[in-house]
Formats: sequence, structure tokens, C-alpha cells
Amino acid sequence: MLIQSVDSNDPSSSEITPRPIYSERRYFLKQLAQGVAGASLATWASRQAIAGVAAPGKLAPLPGTASSIAGAILMEKITTYQDAATYNNFYEFGTDKADPARNAHTLKTKPWAVEVEGLVKKPGRWGVEDIIKWSAMEERIYRMRCVEGWSMVIPWVGYSLSEFIKRVEPLGSAKYIEFITLADPKTMPFVGSAILDWPYREGLRMDEAMHPLTLLTFGMYGEILPNQNGAPVRLVVPWKYGFKNAKSIVKIRFVEKEPVNSWGRVAPQEYGFYSNVNPNVDHPRWSQATERRIGEDGLLSKKRKTLMFNGYEKQVASLYAGMDLSKHF
Ligand code: MTE
Repeated sequence: MLIQSVDSNDPSSSEITPRPIYSERRYFLKQLAQGVAGASLATWASRQAIAGVAAPGKLAPLPGTASSIAGAILMEKITTYQDAATYNNFYEFGTDKADPARNAHTLKTKPWAVEVEGLVKKPGRWGVEDIIKWSAMEERIYRMRCVEGWSMVIPWVGYSLSEFIKRVEPLGSAKYIEFITLADPKTMPFVGSAILDWPYREGLRMDEAMHPLTLLTFGMYGEILPNQNGAPVRLVVPWKYGFKNAKSIVKIRFVEKEPVNSWGRVAPQEYGFYSNVNPNVDHPRWSQATERRIGEDGLLSKKRKTLMFNGYEKQVASLYAGMDLSKHF
């Protein structure tokens, strides 16, 4: 197993926990017993009020073998399932962090199909139950950094998006990929609201999409994704700000020109196409130099320094060689 290198901002060894067995119902209790969740107990207790979210064990299991891709297994304390599944951004279900867990039960994930169109040899429409079989499931423990200044460490389950892309055979003219997500006003109460231009959409340059760390994600903590985390299929690009990770994808379009993402449509001066995590380029309204790790909510807990490319510099910096990252933010 390849482990990401330890640098000055990485946690001390006392903070590192062995990989827990997420598929066990006892996972959260085990975390508690290890003192992992102790600091966030108060937060946890208050979030218990959201019915049906406590620990993995309620959804269908989706185990993955530990990934051997460089940088894919981060040895840092894992965010509790409770936090990862109740502190979300999924604006189709509301703007408060607790809204998706409260409201996303209306999302109908069966049947679910993903359409592939644009500059590919094999366009088509496949059920997610077929797509999930296109490659072996891997577990990846990724550091996630939201543009708003908080972070988590989440064990995702999926396979490299590159496997999916190879299968549909893009044409040489395909330079970017656009991801379009479900916008169903019947099941998503905030679709149609003025917050965003719906459907939520995101994009990647082809080499970013083909990078082995870019994960087509079907599960977390050894189970299928809960609705609020983007069931049944989403994107996870760990070196970019969280909003690049389109949830509940229904269409993947191969295009020649850089697509405009949802946040880029609303506020292009604030949200660039690349959105690589970069502590040296501030958001116009706040600094990006530090972050708050969810679960470290105590009064005495220090903010963490944000790492270049969210700590994945060694793996991805070459994708941006020669680019002015303050311009291409
Ligand atoms: N995908 C859709 N369809 N709708 C959204 O509002 N929010 C994004 C991203 N994907 C969003 C989305 C933002 S802002 C973030 S930070 C991440 O999802 C949050 O993912 P998480 O809730 O699983 O942590």
C-alpha cells in the first residue's frame, strides 16, 4: 500500500488511527471507544436529532479493496460517518448544512441511468447498476476541502473515472468533460430557487478527469452513498475545492471547450474553473490559508494550515506546470 508522504502539516502519529472496518455496525462505537469522536460528542448528540443517520450499517454494503494508487490512502483520523452524512452541501435540498440529511430522503435513486454524449465513439445510456460493474471497487481515504474553509477525511468507494472514460472512447477532439446532475423539482425542493442555475453542473479538463486520483464514487464508509452525499453516483476530485464534486450525476458530456460550471455562472470572479485548493490564492471574500477540520469543534482546537493542492501536490502539480495559478484559480 502506498502512503502519502508525511510533511510538516501532516498529523502526528498519535493522531493516526488504524483503518477501521466501516461495514460493521459497531464502527461508530469503536470510534468512540478509541476516543476519536469524543471531542465532537456534543455536535454528534445534537445531530442525532436527524433521524436515520448515525453510523454505517443501514444502507447496502459496498466494500472496496484498499487502493494502491499513490496518495489514495491518507493516514489521518477519519471524520465520523455522522459528521460526513449530516454536514453537507447539496443545494437542491436546501442551503443549511443539515438540510440535505433532513430532506434528501425524497431523492429517488432507483432506477438511475447515466447518459454519455458528445465527442465519444460510444455514446449511450446505462443503468448505474451496470456502470458500477465496469471496474473493481476501491476504497480511497481522501482529504476533502470545502471552499468555505472546512475539511473532512472520508473513505470513499468507487473506481478511477479514467476507467469509465476509456470504456466510452472519447474522440481526440474531446478536451473537457461536463458533468450534469439531476434537477427534479418534484423530489428536490430547492431546484428552481434563485441560488443557482439548475441543473448543478461541473467540469474537468480531460487530463484531470483521467488522473488516477479522480474517483467516480458510488459509496462511502463501506456502503452505498447516502442520498445527501450524492447517491447513487458522484465525483470526488480530492485536490480541488468540494464544489467540483458533482453529486447525483445523470449526464456526462465530452466537449471541446471549457464548460462553465454552476458556480462559475453565478460568480465567475469568485469561483474559477480549476478551483484547485491553493492556500496562496484567497477567495475574494476570505483567506484560504487555513481550514477547520469537522469534528475538531472544541474551543481549543487549532485551525489547520491548508496544503497546496490539498496535500496532493506530488501527484497533481505537473498537470498545471507553467500555468499562472492566480489567474487560473
Ligand atoms: N452537487 C450537487 N448536485 N449539488 C450541490 O449543491 N454541492 C457541492 C458538491 N456537489 C453540490 C454538489 C459542494 S459546494 C460541496 S462542498 C460538496 O458537494 C459537498 O459534498 P459532501 O456533502 O458529500 O461533503
